[in-house]
Amino acid sequence: MFKIALLPGDGIGVEVTNSAVQVIKTAAKLYNVDVEFKECLIGGCSYEANGTPLTDETIKICYESDAVFLGAVGGYKWESLPHNLKPEAALLKLRKSLGLYTNIRPAKIYQPLVDSSSLKKEVLEGVDFVVFRELTGGIYFGEPRGFDDERGFNTMVYTKEEVERIARMAFKIARERNNKVTSVDKANVLEVSQFWRNIVHQVHKEFSDVELNDMYVDNCAMQIVRNPKQFDVILTSNLFGDILSDIAGMITGSLGMLPSASLGNKYALYEPVHGSAPDIAGQNKANPLAAISSVAMMFNFSFNMKQTSDVIEQAINKTLDNGYRTVDLMSEGCKLVSTTEMTEAVIKNFKEIFLKQD
Ligand code: IPM
Ligand code: MN
Repeated sequence: MFKIALLPGDGIGVEVTNSAVQVIKTAAKLYNVDVEFKECLIGGCSYEANGTPLTDETIKICYESDAVFLGAVGGYKWESLPHNLKPEAALLKLRKSLGLYTNIRPAKIYQPLVDSSSLKKEVLEGVDFVVFRELTGGIYFGEPRGFDDERGFNTMVYTKEEVERIARMAFKIARERNNKVTSVDKANVLEVSQFWRNIVHQVHKEFSDVELNDMYVDNCAMQIVRNPKQFDVILTSNLFGDILSDIAGMITGSLGMLPSASLGNKYALYEPVHGSAPDIAGQNKANPLAAISSVAMMFNFSFNMKQTSDVIEQAINKTLDNGYRTVDLMSEGCKLVSTTEMTEAVIKNFKEIFLKQD
């Protein structure tokens, strides 16, 4: 029995979580597992109901779960709230509370979408890498922090343990992929980056079968658009990973396609990268594929059901191949579909591929 905490959040988060739930239920039926859902509030909707974007009750339900699925948080309405009451503050607090120190964002090309990227087809074909972003440390959480009338400041700091644990996670997963880690830093300027690099190299001694190279973050940003095929696992700190994962994501064609997993030693959270898109919320227009692909990651990492995960990915690919497109992906000759139509099409293909396999 798998317990799943559902945090739909705001905007299109609600619609895509609905799609995710249907795919999870389908998978549970096909593969004979029990799932139990518990839904709770996060972000702007939680602020409206409880005066805070994240309640202890929501955190407690996450603690009691095997996996958390999060839709998206945020909206125009809450943009001018003080820092600690903004919907985004809930995300940071949740990551910290659940100890989710590794954020994994894959940059994978879906063949049917190869023409919707801003990069050339030749540059893109065969691209398949993941960004491992440190998620609970670095400048996002470092103290001291603040500003007054004269100055503003933050602190970029990493402890040995913080670097070691994410480096181990990256080397381990690289072994299951193409065995190559690129550690990204700014060691030519920042001491914290030189420290990061030293620790990554120490950990590498336990994984000497994995290829390791270092790259400065500015160069890495350039290389991702110049020759993305060179990467397998990119390992980097919180702020650099925030920026690089957006670049990596966009070369695949649409932000609406990007899943993510955030893992710690005990808990795991899955969320589409696209955000709450308040301009199209509630209109049945959102692309549910990032949410569905995040479900695939959940089955792989949290439930140890790699095959189910692969079949969900194949179903997404087949649906795109059949020409189904939500408005963000729409191009000539394709079929424009709504969120629910796209979801139904993926589920239909999921069942078909499953039956053919057995
Ligand atoms: C992300 C987002 C968040 C981050 C914001 C919303 C706090 O940009 O998940 O990448 O910076 O981590
Ligand atoms: Mn970001």
